[in-house]
Amino acid sequence: MHKITIAIDGFSSTGKSTIAKQLAAALGYIYVDTGAMYRAVTLYALHHGLISEDGFKASELCLKLKDIQLGFLPNEQTGRSDMLLNGKNVETEIRTMQVSRFVSQVATVKAVREKLVAIQQEMGKAKGIVMDGRDIGTVVFPHAELKLFMTASADARATRRYRELLERGDNITYGEVLENVQKRDYIDSNREESPLRRADDAILFDNSDMGLKEQFERIYNLAIRIIEKL
Ligand code: DC
Repeated sequence: MHKITIAIDGFSSTGKSTIAKQLAAALGYIYVDTGAMYRAVTLYALHHGLISEDGFKASELCLKLKDIQLGFLPNEQTGRSDMLLNGKNVETEIRTMQVSRFVSQVATVKAVREKLVAIQQEMGKAKGIVMDGRDIGTVVFPHAELKLFMTASADARATRRYRELLERGDNITYGEVLENVQKRDYIDSNREESPLRRADDAILFDNSDMGLKEQFERIYNLAIRIIEKL
């Protein structure tokens, strides 16, 4: 059977990664969470004092990009891969609010995007991949056979994210999560470099009121129809 490329973009906390992971498992494809890569670079910048109260030293981060090695380690428990930063498993650290607060800023930097896009394109060379992010259907794989653009109300998204963070034991208020979600959407959509936008040929999915099962079935059927036609 032919393999295709599936690009999933959309606003933060729209459940992109959940659907991408399910889809990859059902099709036997590789799943890549590109947000995790931007988060790992942000963590590196935090650890190296490039983000602090004094601001974000973007040009210093650019000089250090060559020292940043990213990798993925399959995790059987979660069914997805853990993010490795210079050989260290940083999967838990990259999901904290501290990283969420700064990641959109780091993702505005052209050299950061160029480095990560090149890695992503290399990973998708052989197709059979589901990748989620903000610029997958527009920049990374503009010729992907299936492109989805996920959205949901800010409230629905903040509620999901808030529950996730509470489950992990984070001490956070709903208001803080909502503010972070809205702020990231604004920065992601308005940056100069590859802003978040729906590709002309991407299918729009508003899942504010859609259950996961229904969403998965619809998208899986779309993918199968495309694969069968090839
Ligand atoms: O998907 P996420 O929320 O983990 O992504 C974290 C941030 O990374 C998000 O605010 C925007 C940025 N990002 C991006 O600019 N391009 C991508 N392909 C993926 C994420």
